[in-house]
Amino acid sequence: MKKILVINGPNLNMLGIRQPEIYGNRSYADLIDFIKTSAAEIDTEVECVQSNHEGVIVDTIQAAHGRFDGIVINPAAYTHTSIAISDALKSVDIPAVEVHLSDINKREDFRRISYAGMACEKTFAGFGFDGYKMAIKYLNERQQDLK
Ligand code: DQA
Repeated sequence: MKKILVINGPNLNMLGIRQPEIYGNRSYADLIDFIKTSAAEIDTEVECVQSNHEGVIVDTIQAAHGRFDGIVINPAAYTHTSIAISDALKSVDIPAVEVHLSDINKREDFRRISYAGMACEKTFAGFGFDGYKMAIKYLNERQQDLK
């Protein structure tokens, strides 16, 4: 059974309250329920972490080394600023997939650059909660020798 780490960055704990016109009415707890149900449906184990702190996200990625078969990450605003998170993803030799609830290419120009995305095999953006399901499915089906 594959083991996948799901990391959510800053302000995603505010889902349901935060800009519902962009991020929807469902809460972070609803997202975690959705992720766990989606993973269980395809016999995948998931661990979910949320942090508002860049360094904690870097530490979490480093600690995943040798423990997980894949990482699903929504670095939130750090997507567009953090070379440290991008470097951490490149450091651990674990396939990673980037997820965004909104379509970052159809919003402000500053959201078009994704440093994290440069360290990921795939991006699912603009699919809401379903993006996490798509990312878990992708990592679950991915052949280990394909990079
Ligand atoms: C986000 C998009 C980011 O630009 C933003 O800073 C977020 C959430 C998304 O899931 O759509 O916090 O990652």
